[in-house]
Amino acid sequence: MISDVAALRAQFPLLAADPGLHYLDSAASAQTPQAVLDAVARHETHSRANVHRGVHRLAEAATEAYEGARARVASWLNVPANELVFTSGTTGAINLVAHSFTRGLAPGDAIVVSELEHHSNLVPWQLAAERHGLALRAIPATDDGRLDLDALDRVLDARTKLIAVTHASNVTGAVTDVARIVAAARAIGARVLLDGAQRAPHGPLDLQALGVDFYALSSHKLFGPNGVGALWGRGELLAAMPPFMGGGEMIRRVTLAKTTYADPPARFEAGTPPIAQAVGFGAAIDWLSTLDWPAIAARELALAGRLMDGLAAIPGARLIGPAGLQARLPVISVALDGAHPHDVAQMLDRRGVAVRGGHHCAQPLMDRLGLAGTTRASLALYTDAGDVDACLEGLAAAARRLA
Ligand code: ALA
Repeated sequence: MISDVAALRAQFPLLAADPGLHYLDSAASAQTPQAVLDAVARHETHSRANVHRGVHRLAEAATEAYEGARARVASWLNVPANELVFTSGTTGAINLVAHSFTRGLAPGDAIVVSELEHHSNLVPWQLAAERHGLALRAIPATDDGRLDLDALDRVLDARTKLIAVTHASNVTGAVTDVARIVAAARAIGARVLLDGAQRAPHGPLDLQALGVDFYALSSHKLFGPNGVGALWGRGELLAAMPPFMGGGEMIRRVTLAKTTYADPPARFEAGTPPIAQAVGFGAAIDWLSTLDWPAIAARELALAGRLMDGLAAIPGARLIGPAGLQARLPVISVALDGAHPHDVAQMLDRRGVAVRGGHHCAQPLMDRLGLAGTTRASLALYTDAGDVDACLEGLAAAARRLA
């Protein structure tokens, strides 16, 4: 079980090749370990073929690798493999549910999102609401960037069919109290979808224990390739949902007059899927399974605390997010008085510190907090104290120069 940060960093070729880089943008995209790169290269050089279509040796090897990856991802999430749909990523997964689940709803039914959502867990629901005449309401955010669950009763009603919220904010790092949402949903017979893009890279998940109905995540934030992600949905819900996209492999029988559809997950995987990427996703899961997660999670939070403590000493710097370490991820947003986040991010970049500056695809939250954007440092299992200190020095310099 590996947890030592130097040993972990050594496994990431991009980080190993550039010791001057302080990569603090893992919430946008995490780096990839050699084990994943090797698995993708091995697949492409030994087993590349289309899946579920051929009977030749390569086609069978490719199908086995692709379905093996599905089994690995499903097992990591503690769900059955036939309930796990490969998608293009979190956005693709949420759009699938927003398209197919809402086909079973009636005008006047309601979807509930939140003020904290990434646009990818908001815009698909706006489109669905327009298509089907649904009501769309939002759980408000608190001043410190959490879901205000005291407002749940005001937002939910008997017509609410789905609550679609983030498992953890990509801006403030706040982790959602899922048990409270699930209990409220159960009381009115609503379903719960979690956007797990940010939570997934910070430790194992047990979706059955969470008690939700749908979960969306991306491989590229989980140390795997980009272009692939997953949707988990309860078997009976997926079975009742019509397809999202039509094409090869999602059918049972096609005539010119009519088509019947395959069972899930194939029903939702029209066309040639991202095969090598899925194989890499599975390899990332294998690699994640070798890590000492309690130790890594504790270090990530300790480093988040170091960053938050350091911020408190920088004049004009304001933490945007929960002040404590409880129920939060090491995703730290900062507003510097008088400075635009893009300028701050550029100044940090000149020091080798990679952060994201801007609205982080969460404009409603920025409106709520009265900000144009923030400068966001997002930590991962390979982050060390040197990265955090370089970020703090850069922010202090930016505060002196820009404020
Ligand atoms: N959702 C990613 C982020 O927050 C892209 O940066």
